[in-house]
Amino acid sequence: MILLTGGRGAAATQLLPLLRAAGLPVRVGSAEPAALDLPAGVPAVALDLTDPTTFPAALDGVTSVFLYASPQHAGAFADAAHRAGVTHVVLLSSAAVLGPAPEDSPLARAHLDAEHALLASPVATTVLRPGSFAANARGWAWAVRAGRPVSLPYPEAHSDPLHERDLAEAAFAVLTDPRHRGGLFTLTGPESLTFTQQLDQLAAATGAPVAVRRVTRDAWKRETADYIPAAYADALLDWWASHDGRPVPLTGTVQALTGHPARPFATWAADHAADFKAP
Ligand SMILES: NC(=O)c1ccc[n+]([C@@H]2O[C@H](COP(=O)([O-])OP(=O)(O)OC[C@H]3O[C@@H](n4cnc5c(N)ncnc54)[C@H](OP(=O)(O)O)[C@@H]3O)[C@@H](O)[C@H]2O)c1
Repeated sequence: MILLTGGRGAAATQLLPLLRAAGLPVRVGSAEPAALDLPAGVPAVALDLTDPTTFPAALDGVTSVFLYASPQHAGAFADAAHRAGVTHVVLLSSAAVLGPAPEDSPLARAHLDAEHALLASPVATTVLRPGSFAANARGWAWAVRAGRPVSLPYPEAHSDPLHERDLAEAAFAVLTDPRHRGGLFTLTGPESLTFTQQLDQLAAATGAPVAVRRVTRDAWKRETADYIPAAYADALLDWWASHDGRPVPLTGTVQALTGHPARPFATWAADHAADFKAP
């Protein structure tokens, strides 16, 4: 039995049909199992990665886990997984752990702590370290739909947008092919693009122009204060500042794991164009 954690998340949602198509038994864990919309025959289980009392029941009978990085109780999760007979964990971490002084960044630190806890445990752990998700562009959807400019503090900051299907296919490969077990994989999209270039590609996909409004760091923090805690906002701003005008180094890991090149951002924009169009 494979346990997917973070059941409502994009990675688990995309991974589930790949595992089912391969005929593998899967259980989906979520902090809100009632909110899951699962195909018939796929069991759901209550699993809150911040609440260790939910671990034993979720892990009962499980041999492999796809795990979101939740640092608070990662060690307790690893212990519970070992006791339950789990032999392999695939951890969804972040390429932020490879950045300069990752222990000083709240973004990187959470993933680093989760990696350390899992890698110190007796359970074989494979680590996926994606760069930037293409789905981060969803944060612009409201403004684009409303025909308003997108506020950006660093419009020329680079990232390497990774399509969620490529992440899921890479996760499928490491979960199902023992040759990859124990590896540390840095996943990137196929191109380094500035935010302006991504918005141009979204405009092409939706057929409507998208404007950018350059804002100060403080103005952006005020705009996002309701949903991004200040410490995370600062870490994001510092990350973008360090990538301002600087292309991100790319890896061929998606191709190596999946057998095909990573999908370009234009594909993501076409796949999700409806989310950016006015109703
Ligand atoms: N965004 C990036 O560029 C990036 C890059 C590298 C690594 N990562 C890492 O990848 C992981 C996933 O990131 P993400 O931003 O794409 O998150 P996500 O997959 O959309 O969701 C993350 C989790 O949040 C929980 N959740 C809580 N409330 C929710 C709600 N109302 N709707 C849906 N899910 C909800 C879900 O778990 P439950 O179902 O258990 O509640 C879900 O699995 C994170 O650990 C992140 O740090 C992200």
